[in-house]
Amino acid sequence: MARWPKPAEGSWTQHYPELGTEPMSYEDSIAPEFYALEQDAIFKRAWLNVGRIEQLPRTGSYFTKEIRAAHTSVIIARDRDGGINAFHNICRHRGNKLVWNEFPREETSGTCRQFTCKYHGWRYGLDGSLAFVQQEEEFFDLDKSALGLAKVHCEVWAGFIFVNLAARPRQTLREFLGPMVTALEGYPFDRLTERYCYKSEVGANWKLYMDAFQEFYHAPILHGKQTPDNFSIAAQQAGFEAPHYQLDGPHRLVSTSGVVTWELDPSMRKPMEDITRGGLFGPWDTPDLGTMPAGLNPAGCDPWGLDSFQLWPNFVILIWSGGWYLTYQYWPTSHNTHTFEGNLYFVPARTPRDRIAHEMTALTFKEYGLQDASTLEATQMMLESRAVRTFHLNDQEILLRHLHKVAADWVGDYQRERAEARQ
Ligand code: FES
Ligand SMILES: [Fe+2]
Repeated sequence: MARWPKPAEGSWTQHYPELGTEPMSYEDSIAPEFYALEQDAIFKRAWLNVGRIEQLPRTGSYFTKEIRAAHTSVIIARDRDGGINAFHNICRHRGNKLVWNEFPREETSGTCRQFTCKYHGWRYGLDGSLAFVQQEEEFFDLDKSALGLAKVHCEVWAGFIFVNLAARPRQTLREFLGPMVTALEGYPFDRLTERYCYKSEVGANWKLYMDAFQEFYHAPILHGKQTPDNFSIAAQQAGFEAPHYQLDGPHRLVSTSGVVTWELDPSMRKPMEDITRGGLFGPWDTPDLGTMPAGLNPAGCDPWGLDSFQLWPNFVILIWSGGWYLTYQYWPTSHNTHTFEGNLYFVPARTPRDRIAHEMTALTFKEYGLQDASTLEATQMMLESRAVRTFHLNDQEILLRHLHKVAADWVGDYQRERAEARQ
């Protein structure tokens, strides 16, 4: 499906006739029935990123991930052989949630030798095997070797841990990611281990927040107050259009050129940026990360700003030219709510100055994220009124069309398979 570089004539959208140019419906973001289908068709079948291997530094390291959209919680753990395994977080005795701390709905992490159930003390090894049953002799025909934790498919790519909740995933993780995403291999993700993590509950469908981060049409308006007046007035007059969009299977990419903040006229910058040497574009002192992989900056922008890889269904890897990156995850909790997670990754600070620049970048990101989220509840609320049912998208909003089409396609495939199975 990848047809690039930039089309010589016509618009981006017109080069993908399957996307159409007609007004779009947002029924897929407001109908509880559509969300119920997405849960089975998407979240129980796609590869989902749950974290990075640095979160599991040693034998016995584990963390849990609540995947409400798939009605489960998963334990991801490093075993004695260094392997990474995922299990449904449920005890084989009477179904208690196995790993949690204080609050059963919250995620947790730590290091242990075994997982012990809080209810009757059954114990499981790091590889999921059932190791101990309290008063075992009182049970009837209990075969411990057949009562390990229920496994979840788990694969790692470039240090990113993915799980798949299908009984038999239709593709390996690599096949699923496809050529556009795997061309990021070689980016030194393993060196960028200083992590800042933010989480928030958002009162909008998960796809609406993804939409807010896959076009830059809103940037001069919605983020207009974020920069000194000189800058925002200039930005509004110029408008903004990204130079490159790319589609590959269910995944998407937008690439932008960039003016580096520190090369701007000082009147265009905030005093805090000068003091901390950091801001939206990242720390000003850029680490040397060596040669970049072929998949980055696919349009050859100079100066290049960032690439935002939108991995189906709910994961984004956003790589900035300044030697750092972000990830976003959107975890649906109902048809009109989701949990958003944003992570920033830097080469670990060696000096207090580095650290301050990272902190400033993280705070600036949080400010932007709040601005991006600020319209979502308002949009959700009024979409639900159904007073207007179709909406006009411009050429810069091509990735939105693609996201909503992929969701419809996966739901459609699932419905067809279900209907065939019934015949
Ligand atoms: S439910 Fe876990 S030991 Fe009984
Ligand atoms: Fe934004």
